[in-house]
Amino acid sequence: ALERTLSIVKPDAVAKNVVGEIYSRFEKAGLKIAAAKMKHLSRKEAEGFYAVHRERPFFNALVEFMCSGPVMIQVLEGDNAIAKNRELMGATNPKDAAPGTIRADFADSIDANAVHGSDAAETAAVEIAYFFPSTEVYAR
Ligand code: CMP
Repeated sequence: ALERTLSIVKPDAVAKNVVGEIYSRFEKAGLKIAAAKMKHLSRKEAEGFYAVHRERPFFNALVEFMCSGPVMIQVLEGDNAIAKNRELMGATNPKDAAPGTIRADFADSIDANAVHGSDAAETAAVEIAYFFPSTEVYAR
């Protein structure tokens, strides 16, 4: 089915100057960019985005890292976009990520893991709305 998912190129990958290489992987896999912006998240914005992880032991480190520099935030649209993006990203921990995935190629650690992607349709809708009003998401 045609889906939309929220993708974030995290501060580590923006700092490495691999935004274009990562976008190229999305495009080659048939995912279209339906919205995009660069943003340096405030602590409050990062805490709100990751609110579901508030009780996890890694929450503070995660928020700290996500505010450490600008990120690229995009909505990806395409057939089966949520699972397709997760396949392109690879496992959360780059040590477990399959060769050729974004995290295997660009991530340094489970915290600095290059990209975020929504994990399900319900979270995708919430995450997209968190960053983009519907007037800023373009059907492709
Ligand atoms: P992300 O997909 O952005 O969602 C939450 C993030 O928390 C995750 O990627 C990791 O970067 C980070 N994180 C740190 N430690 C863990 C952990 N033990 N399990 C899951 N996510 C973790």
